[in-house]
Amino acid sequence: MSTTASAAAADWTIVDEGWGRKAVDFATLSEPANCREYVALHHRLGVTEGDKLLDIACGAGLSIELARARGAQCAGIDAASRLIAVARDRNPASDLRVGGMHALPWADASFDVVTSFRGVWGTTPAALAEIHRVLAPGGRVGLTVWGHLKQSSGVWALMPFRLAAEPKVRNQANMVSLGRPGVGEELLAGFGFTEVERISIPFAWEFADPETYARALASTGPAYEAIQNVGEPAFLERAVAQAQEQVRDGLPLRAEIAVTGYLARKEVS
Ligand SMILES: C[S@@+](CC[C@H](N)C(=O)[O-])C[C@H]1O[C@@H](n2cnc3c(N)ncnc32)[C@H](O)[C@@H]1O
Repeated sequence: MSTTASAAAADWTIVDEGWGRKAVDFATLSEPANCREYVALHHRLGVTEGDKLLDIACGAGLSIELARARGAQCAGIDAASRLIAVARDRNPASDLRVGGMHALPWADASFDVVTSFRGVWGTTPAALAEIHRVLAPGGRVGLTVWGHLKQSSGVWALMPFRLAAEPKVRNQANMVSLGRPGVGEELLAGFGFTEVERISIPFAWEFADPETYARALASTGPAYEAIQNVGEPAFLERAVAQAQEQVRDGLPLRAEIAVTGYLARKEVS
């Protein structure tokens, strides 16, 4: 393993510090807003009764709850132990583990379907080798990543992340690179996947008011990077102030953000 790859593989142990910090807020205020994305990808993958499904970077396990509703037998992994605690509460019979996506603790060919919702990024491509390994021949993978953010009317909702220190903001930009045209297609093909397809995924965050939005955003990992840089009061103040500009009478705050999906298959032999 190269130095960069081994650093990325070890990094998962510190993820809970940011992503697990406000696990209950994330589970109840942030993750539910992603439901359109989960439903759309499960639909496009044809997730159905009896499928053995693994969700990578499964967060607090809402996507797993929805896959179970389609009859799938689910497993999940996330680096944040406090998010996995919520995921287990929601999905007591599922195989949910704390760990890193670069060394999946499952045997080769264990799953019919692997999903990851904004969990595999430009900075974590080696996870694709692991996804390929744990998929059964003919198995399907579906990944989502941020799409063209600058062309998204709801990009304002992500702006407070920019309060992080400059190297962290640069890293956030590198992560998003997987959404650029051709990048994901080439990467998936390079790891031996076939039938690679790029799709557009519906994604809209809705919140009751600026304070709820700010609290939801503050529960995420990139927000923690900003909070480490400017402090929580300043982060919340900035988030509330910019959301106030988006308030519409009688309607929820709504941020539509471009999300790209990749569908692919592991060859039969
Ligand atoms: C953008 S969130 C997506 C969470 C969830 N899939 C959702 O839809 O809300 C990214 C997730 O990746 C997890 N994560 C970050 N690095 C990881 C790693 N190396 N291995 C496994 N999970 C990781 C975080 O704990 C977090 O839950």
